[in-house]
Amino acid sequence: MRRSLRSQLLAWVLVPLLLLAALNGTASWISARDAADLVTDRMLAASARSIAEQAIVEEDLIAVVVPPAALEMFDTGSGDFVYYAVTDGAGRLLAGTADLPRWARDRTSGQPSSTEAVYRDRPLHLFALDHPIAGPGLEASVTVVLGTTLNSRDALLRHLWAVGFGQQLALIVTAGLFMILGLRMGLAPLLRLRDAVMARPGSSLEPLEAGAVQAELQPLVVALNQQLDRVQKQLAAQHRFVTNAAHQLRTPLALLNVQATYARRTLGSAEQDAALAAIQSGTQQLSRLSGQLLTLARAEPGSRRPRADRVDLGALAHRVLDDFAEAALAKGIDLGLEEQEGTTVRGDATMLGELLVNLVDNALRYCPSGSSVTVRVQRAGDDALVAVQDDGPGLPPSEWERVFERFYRAPDTPMEGSGLGLAIVQEVATAAGGRVLARAMDGGGLVVEVRLPAA
Ligand SMILES: Nc1ncnc2c1ncn2[C@@H]1O[C@H](COP(=O)(O)OP(=O)(O)OP(=O)(O)O)[C@@H](O)[C@H]1O
Ligand SMILES: [Mg+2]
Repeated sequence: MRRSLRSQLLAWVLVPLLLLAALNGTASWISARDAADLVTDRMLAASARSIAEQAIVEEDLIAVVVPPAALEMFDTGSGDFVYYAVTDGAGRLLAGTADLPRWARDRTSGQPSSTEAVYRDRPLHLFALDHPIAGPGLEASVTVVLGTTLNSRDALLRHLWAVGFGQQLALIVTAGLFMILGLRMGLAPLLRLRDAVMARPGSSLEPLEAGAVQAELQPLVVALNQQLDRVQKQLAAQHRFVTNAAHQLRTPLALLNVQATYARRTLGSAEQDAALAAIQSGTQQLSRLSGQLLTLARAEPGSRRPRADRVDLGALAHRVLDDFAEAALAKGIDLGLEEQEGTTVRGDATMLGELLVNLVDNALRYCPSGSSVTVRVQRAGDDALVAVQDDGPGLPPSEWERVFERFYRAPDTPMEGSGLGLAIVQEVATAAGGRVLARAMDGGGLVVEVRLPAA
């Protein structure tokens, strides 16, 4: 699968950022929990100490009075429950609840210890403190175990986490946004280059502009331009070859034709005449082919210097129809012109003439005697329209596109031809920035329409 550069870069930025955000969320949760636990432990320690310090020894007995202030400090508005148990060194309960959970702890260190446990279906944070008491003639100690439910601790944890994580998330999101912005800005010249290449007409071999892209991409554009230059040179060489070849063919073919005509007139027998007639028709076909090849080569991009003459299509059609008047008369075809004044385009006048010549030639060639052929020249919105329509045999829809291919002739076409006429029409139309299509006329027959940008 081809992945887009944009999504690939974006993935490389966004995935690590999201991982970082998740990691950061976990880390700040752990540190917030540690801080909240520490605060709870401190409160429990202070409370336990103030209880333990109330223990007094009276005649071998230890008495404990739990001061209310020691428990009130847990009344933070979170609805927490506080439980306590005060025991003597032998484990006898002196005050509080007897069933408060105990846990194994190292009493020798003298350090307070804390744990979490479930008591009366509530999770508790428990804290234990051993406190020595000295009385007259007695060395004893009490153990205070104090437990609180976790509402207040959890609220503190959530608050600490939200603040820490929120700040870091804001940082990550800002960094992400800037990265995406940078990515867009960085990729913009590349995308502009792509658009510029895609917007070029298919025949364009002009070099691409290298200045707009970043330094890393410049070698690519330069290499592309070198390649385009090579292709252009090759194409020009090929054009020169076809043009020269067609030129070279013309003269001997014309000579052959003249000689065959002369021989037919001066020599006698019917066999000789038939052979010479065949030679004559062959040379005429070859002449037509070389002529069409030459025109096609000239119509191709890069073969002639581009021209932007202002061409009056009506006047052009008049000239072409004048040239065909005699042939139309001879074949008994009614050749007419419908012209809208001032239909002008910009382009190569000679090649536009060739376009019209080929369309009229086809209509006269493929329509039987008695047909009518009309050349229409008119404005159509921003376009100039040239259409050559006839009421001849027409073509089936399957042929409407194929007839524009080089050397293609519709099956069973009766007349001779090289199959290059409509290819020439298409080349000329494309070079002038237009397009061409063939379709059926309503009452049978064919119309070929050329739309060019009006000037
Ligand atoms: N007016 C038309 N009516 C019917 N068929 C047509 C018409 N114009 C063109 N065609 C068909 O389209 C084919 C291609 O036309 P195109 O002008 O490209 O070649 P051609 O006329 O055969 O050869 P040439 O290069 O000598 O013009 C023709 O062979 C013919 O079958
Ligand atoms: Mg033709």
